[in-house]
Amino acid sequence: MKRTLGVCYYPEHWPEDVWPEDARRMAEAGLTWVRIGEFAWSRLEPAPGKLDFDWLDRAIATLGEAGLRVVLGTPTATPPRWMLDRHPDMLAVDAQGRPRKFGARRHYCFSHRGYLEDCRRITTRLAERYGQTPHVAAWQTDNEYGCHDTILSYSDAARTAFRDWLAQKYQSPEALNRAWGNAFWSMDYASFDQIDLPNLTVTEPNPAHVMDFRRFSSDQVVAFNRAQVEIIRRHSDAPVAHNYMGRITEFDHFAVGADLDIASWDSYPLGFLSDRLEASAEHKAAFLRQGDPDFQAFHHDLYRAVGRGRWWVMEQQPGPVNWAPYNPAPLPGMVRLWTWEAFAHGAEAVCYFRWRQAPFAQEQMHAGLLRPDSAPAPGLAEAVEVARELNAAPHVAATQGDVALISDYASAWAWDTQPQGADFDYFRLVFAWYRALRALGLNIDILSPDTRDLSDWKLVLAPGLFTLPPALREALATAGGQVVFGPRANSKTADFAIPPALPPDLPGLDARVTRVESLPPGTDLPLTEGGAFRHWAEEVEGSAPVLMRRADGLPALLGSEALAYLTGWPCDETLRAILQRLCAAQGIPTHDLPAGLRRRQAGGLCFWFNYGAAPVTWEGVEIPAAGVVWTRD
Ligand code: GAL
Repeated sequence: MKRTLGVCYYPEHWPEDVWPEDARRMAEAGLTWVRIGEFAWSRLEPAPGKLDFDWLDRAIATLGEAGLRVVLGTPTATPPRWMLDRHPDMLAVDAQGRPRKFGARRHYCFSHRGYLEDCRRITTRLAERYGQTPHVAAWQTDNEYGCHDTILSYSDAARTAFRDWLAQKYQSPEALNRAWGNAFWSMDYASFDQIDLPNLTVTEPNPAHVMDFRRFSSDQVVAFNRAQVEIIRRHSDAPVAHNYMGRITEFDHFAVGADLDIASWDSYPLGFLSDRLEASAEHKAAFLRQGDPDFQAFHHDLYRAVGRGRWWVMEQQPGPVNWAPYNPAPLPGMVRLWTWEAFAHGAEAVCYFRWRQAPFAQEQMHAGLLRPDSAPAPGLAEAVEVARELNAAPHVAATQGDVALISDYASAWAWDTQPQGADFDYFRLVFAWYRALRALGLNIDILSPDTRDLSDWKLVLAPGLFTLPPALREALATAGGQVVFGPRANSKTADFAIPPALPPDLPGLDARVTRVESLPPGTDLPLTEGGAFRHWAEEVEGSAPVLMRRADGLPALLGSEALAYLTGWPCDETLRAILQRLCAAQGIPTHDLPAGLRRRQAGGLCFWFNYGAAPVTWEGVEIPAAGVVWTRD
């Protein structure tokens, strides 16, 4: 597979006479792809029904004639101002009941039928016009579902749609009352029309009510996206993608991804380190200009799974961004490193955001490959270097992971709904397991909880999975080695109740969680072999063999070589030691990588990524600061 580079471009931001020169320079830089159009609705349809696609025809022709392949975005993340006159109630409403205003982007509610119709209409016009245009070689639906906290909407449209969704799911209010446990606090409903959205209640709403609202909200995103995909497919054979984000769990990306050909995501390592990661001040200082060594890789592996093997980075940070609390510049070398890391994880393409820094509006402080005066910004030289290397580089093959880690969106909703401890966060838990595995030098495959065949992995890990889907229960029999469940696994029924048999209720494992406790920061629960649980610990009884114990004698890890259960949330060093031991038991070789050094095997190559600010020599390989090198295995 030929790996390629691209860039995000906004022809509507620049005078038309600049386009040919821009296109020429993009091609000369070695870029293949140019993504356009995703925010251009007000220029495509300046007034209702008054379409102006001529400029887009010319932009596509200019870019295409320069040898570039266009990714065309549907502009539905930015409804123009006139859309609000047409649908005054289309705005998303926040949990405080306040409508989001016009004047930025993503100001729509996924449940508004009138807006959905207008999205269908503009998508149809675009697909009809460009579906057979050879230069349009891929599509993007909307832009970053979930950005700016826009999945959960408490609008009238959402309430109506939620009632319909509940009526379909439960068929009768009695069934809903039973499932939710509405005998509690006299919450019984006599009709679906009495059910409101779970915001602004006096104290916390029923978790089963919230959980259904979260499922419903995710389904609305799936339906919204599917409407566009169906239209595009009627007119075009080009692949359809969406650009997901980092650490967004509000909708089920696996479900959206099932309708798409390619998963892509927008990677902003420095912004994410500063505002999307729990880490010590020392860690954030050490990686200020490099980004967290594992955050990008986690999402690469996640979206490889979401895209069923086909995935891109649709937006790659090329310099300082504008949206984090502080916006440092990357160390020289990092743009190249981030790009190669994506390729080593199997990305088909990496596109930089954006071509030229805009001198106006919200993102004028966001770097591009070019400065606002069109001179090259520092990121451009690194992109050009990667383009050159790609031409000369060896084939980067897809690779089977050493271990698998299950990641589940519904579990994120469940623990968000009922954290039980202020710092119990599902992403944080799964990411802690991921980074411990990465520090051991392993290739990791992320799996959806609907995976039906586990035979490819000697070790499969499932921390915090709130309920065990029936298919996964069956798939346990296919495991190629050991499956290890982590704290809180299968601790609720799908209706958000404690299972009658008590968790974790895993086949062949006689163990029952009888009591749980959450622990505030600074409280460690020591284990006999050293190390500790933190955040969360469970008391378990039963006859399953105990493999590790807490210092107070209670089981910490129990089960067998086939199936085990970890009864708490270990601190990072302890987790690494436990996972290393589990790998050793399965004959999976591990490495003890120093902080900041990461490796990834891809086919016959081993890539080394140094996120550190000083050079490292490891296993005879010298890796420069902020550098990437590859060796033959
Ligand atoms: C992304 C978004 C882009 C741009 C970028 C800035 O989240 O998709 O449109 O805003 O961030 O970093």
